[in-house]
Amino acid sequence: MPQLYTTLARVYHEMYRHIFDYDEEFRFYDDLLRKNHCKKILEVGCGSGMLARRFLNNGYDYIGLDVAGEMLAIAREEIQQDVLVQSDMRDLRFSNEFDAVLITGRSLAYVTDNKGIMDTLTGIQNALKKNGLFVFGIFEANGIFDNFGDFEQTIELPNKTIQRINKLEKNLATGWTWNWHARYLIESEGKVTEYDDTTILRAFTKDEILLFLKLAGFDVLEILEENKAMTLITQKSENVLH
Ligand SMILES: C[S@@+](CC[C@H](N)C(=O)[O-])C[C@H]1O[C@@H](n2cnc3c(N)ncnc32)[C@H](O)[C@@H]1O
Repeated sequence: MPQLYTTLARVYHEMYRHIFDYDEEFRFYDDLLRKNHCKKILEVGCGSGMLARRFLNNGYDYIGLDVAGEMLAIAREEIQQDVLVQSDMRDLRFSNEFDAVLITGRSLAYVTDNKGIMDTLTGIQNALKKNGLFVFGIFEANGIFDNFGDFEQTIELPNKTIQRINKLEKNLATGWTWNWHARYLIESEGKVTEYDDTTILRAFTKDEILLFLKLAGFDVLEILEENKAMTLITQKSENVLH
């Protein structure tokens, strides 16, 4: 488990409010869920609850799931409701319960082997009601490896400055995977604390993710393609090949 979601969970929570636009992300899901009359939803990789709060405030019957206890502890403070489950997405145990399942924040990138991907998708298929919606984002392999390179980020917060130096290294052990070495320099009240965090992330080619979806029993409704990423809007299919 990356330090970013354990030791550094509070740093994540402060930092990513300035990296992701959670209002815009919520609007995207909300439009889609309303259009498809989805009320009961599961958010996989809910992290520190930035979307959870928005779903609950807007009347969704919501469950959030994440593997990291430290992230869920922050989410519990944010939402003060007992709707969070600690579980690995590869081991979901729901059956015909949800109108929609979302994997947010491209959290599927942390599942780096094919079996793990199939177990995750099969668990989501089982968790959905008939014709249920499954929406998720991934990193796109060509975009990632065409522009592969190191980068730095600096986030100025009222009480601290977070600098992150990101070094990327091709790995390719279990798919279109790479090692993400991140060095955090956190400056607060004149003191700098340093952390090193290494994580493996996975991207998919379009063909590859479409094959996974076909095998796990999803029909693709729409694909939104960005520079290094893709969002897939899919529906539980009647035809399952596995
Ligand atoms: C980039 S964060 C996204 C969090 C949140 N969706 C957001 O947008 O702020 C990735 C999340 O995926 C979770 N995660 C990673 N691997 C997981 C797994 N196998 N099962 C469940 N959650 C996992 C991490 O704990 C982390 O909270």
